[in-house]
Formats: sequence, structure tokens, C-alpha cells
Amino acid sequence: MDFQLNEDQEFIRKTAREFAEKQVKPTAAERDEKKEWPAEIVKKMGELGFMGVAVSEEYGGAGLDYVSYAIVIEELSRVDASVGVIASVNNSLVCYGIEKFGTEEQKREILTPLASGQKLGAFSLSEPGAGSDAAAQKTIAVRDGDYYIINGIKNWVTNGSEADTILLMAMTDPTKGHRGISAFLVDTHQPGVSVVKVEDKLGIRSAHSAQMAYDNYRIHKSRMLGEEGQGFKIAMTILNAGRIGIAAQAVGIAQGAYEAALEYAKIREQFGQPIIQFEAVGFTLADMATRIKAARMLTWHAAWKKDRGENYIADASMAKLFASETAMWTATKSIQVHGSNGYSKEYPVERFFRDAKITEIYEGTSEIQRLVISREIAR
Ligand code: CAA
Repeated sequence: MDFQLNEDQEFIRKTAREFAEKQVKPTAAERDEKKEWPAEIVKKMGELGFMGVAVSEEYGGAGLDYVSYAIVIEELSRVDASVGVIASVNNSLVCYGIEKFGTEEQKREILTPLASGQKLGAFSLSEPGAGSDAAAQKTIAVRDGDYYIINGIKNWVTNGSEADTILLMAMTDPTKGHRGISAFLVDTHQPGVSVVKVEDKLGIRSAHSAQMAYDNYRIHKSRMLGEEGQGFKIAMTILNAGRIGIAAQAVGIAQGAYEAALEYAKIREQFGQPIIQFEAVGFTLADMATRIKAARMLTWHAAWKKDRGENYIADASMAKLFASETAMWTATKSIQVHGSNGYSKEYPVERFFRDAKITEIYEGTSEIQRLVISREIAR
């Protein structure tokens, strides 16, 4: 096994680091405070190939591998987890799904503008009554000739209020349970789909999460992704890949919180010496560095298995579970190292702390990851 990043991976890491430092970090705190959508940053990410990192060049992507994708999401999230998740949703929850399950026409017409960043995608599975129990879909799609008519309410649609395309799951046959769910590629510029509200959240505040309503939304059958009844399987397959993205986001948040604590501990003096020289602080930083390295290795390993075409379901869930709990732990400890200053908005760690929490929740809670892992290892 080779632990060396290849030239492409090193190059994309350097490019993403520079972009994150120069163009994302300076405005991150203000955008968080104002819940401001980073329109310019999203546009630039498209130009740099960050919106379709692992999509083939033929369909507008950067044509790199999934390890490269994890690296990009980590670097963005190291300074701003909101920007990290905006890119992650477009890459793995939308582009990956269309490239894997789409028709040639869907790939040319819908995937290409999404992967090249000219358009933005969102993924819509969750409903007020369908969170962890994702199969409990109430949104309904009724066949009407060559069209389907969609009605229902979706929530927690990351990118939803800004998206051009939404990969939507809806029930086409309620008598069949999860096998009655189908996936659609919704054009948000058509009538019948609207934003009910953008949530006011604890963290990742500049990434918008919308509640959306479908009111007799009419969609042609050519915009169904995969076959009728395949939607749940498609959603689960997409989420396997998405969980690598969230693991990478969590590694980035943890890394940002750790670097802030390290820097602070070197300059903050108490009792006549920098606090890093106190064993309590030095050992905390040692534990942070160790856990982050382990989380990154799990994430890259899951991505590497995906790149090799191996089954990575448990690996993605392990990476997401461990990395998200590492992010929360590291951010909490980083505030502790900062003392009262860590509790203040003058320092970035309170934002890392607020942003870290969602990584233990979305794309499957930690409890769901443990369920997935336990089922996989019991096979
Ligand atoms: N990969 C591929 N297929 C899978 C799968 C996986 N990880 N998990 C289940 N499936 C398949 C099964 O093989 C089965 O297929 P068949 O029809 O051939 O039998 C089918 O899906 C049903 O599986 P289960 O019987 O296991 O379904 P379940 O209802 O018992 O449990 C669950 C499924 C794992 C709990 C699932 O509901 C789940 O993952 N829940 C969490 C939902 C989630 O992650 N939501 C995230 C929302 S999106 C989001 O957060 C985006 C964002 O904002 C950034």
C-alpha cells in the first residue's frame, strides 16, 4: 500500500489550500454571521474544477479520483465548512448519482453544467416525517401520460434555495414501500416547486438548507433517474459516496480547530510560560493530532476503495462516524485550550464547534452509521 499522494492529488491539495486561504477564509466569519450565500466563491470553485472533481472530463468534471475529491473538501472545510458542504453536495450527492445512474442525454444536458460549475445541484430525500427512516416518503409522484405530477414537502435540502437541479426522491407506488420510491431530476426553474423557508441554523450558516414545497410540479418521464422504483437504492448508493465527502468535511473542521489551538497554545502565556508547555495542553494537542490523522486515513482509505471499485459501504460509514466525532471532540477541546477567548467570536473556534455538530447528523446520524457498519460486518 502506498501512502504517498500522486502528482495530481498533491497539485489539487495545493490549489485548494491556496484558494481556501486567499478567497474563502477572509469572509468566512462574516458570511456565517449574516447567513450569506457565498455566490462568488461557488462560481470560482466551478472554474477551478471543485464542483465536479471526480466527474469525467467528458461530462464537464476535473476527471480526478475520489481521494482528490476528499482532499478538496477537507481543504475547503479547514477554513469554512459551509463552503465544504456546498461543494460536497454538488459533487457526490448530485454529480456522482447522475454519472452512475443517468442516461447519456441526462449526462450531457444535466450533469455537464453541474460538474463544470455553471449550474448548482441539490439532493432531496429528507422530509418532516422521513429523517433516519428515509423510506417513509410522503412526497408523491403520480403518472400522467408521459409526465409525473409531484406533490409534497421536503426539508433540509442543502443548496436547495440556490439550486438549478434537484435530485429528488418521491413515492411513485406507496404499496411497494422502499421499492415504490423513484428518483427525479427536478428543474427548479419550472413552476410548481418553491422554497418555503431557509432554516436559521446553529452552524454551516452560509450554506443554505431549505424547506421546499412541490405543488403539482409536472416533470417529463425522461427526467427520471434510473428506473421507476429504483429511487431508494439510488439514494442509498449516492449516500455511501456522500459519506466520504462528509468525513472529509469533518477532517477539515477538526484540522482547522486543531491548528487554531496549536497556534494559540504557543503564544498564550500563563504562569510565566506558553501554555503548550503545560502537559495538560500538550497532551490534548497530541490527542487531537493523532485522532485527526486516523480520521484522515479512514477517509482516504474509503475513497481509495471506491476508486478501485471495491465495496466501501462500511468503510465510508466508519470514516464518517469517526471523523465527525473527531471534529466535535477536537472543536470542543480547542475551545478549552483557548479558555474564555475560545468562547468569543473574536476567534474562529466557536464557529468550528458549531459547524462540527452537523457532521454527526446529516447524511446519516452517527447512530445510522453504526447501524450500517453493524449490518455490513454481520454479513
Ligand atoms: N447501499 C446500497 N444499498 C443499500 C444501502 C446502502 N448503504 N442500505 C440499504 N440499501 C438497500 C438494501 O440492499 C435494500 O435493497 P433491496 O430493495 O434490494 O432489498 C434496500 O436498500 C432497503 O434496505 P433496508 O431494508 O436496509 O432499509 P431500512 O429502511 O431498514 O434502513 C437505512 C435503511 C440504512 C436506515 C437508511 O434509511 C438510511 O441510510 N437512513 C439514513 C438516511 C440519511 O442518510 N439521510 C441523509 C439525508 S441527505 C442529507 O443529509 C444531505 C445533506 O443535507 C448534506
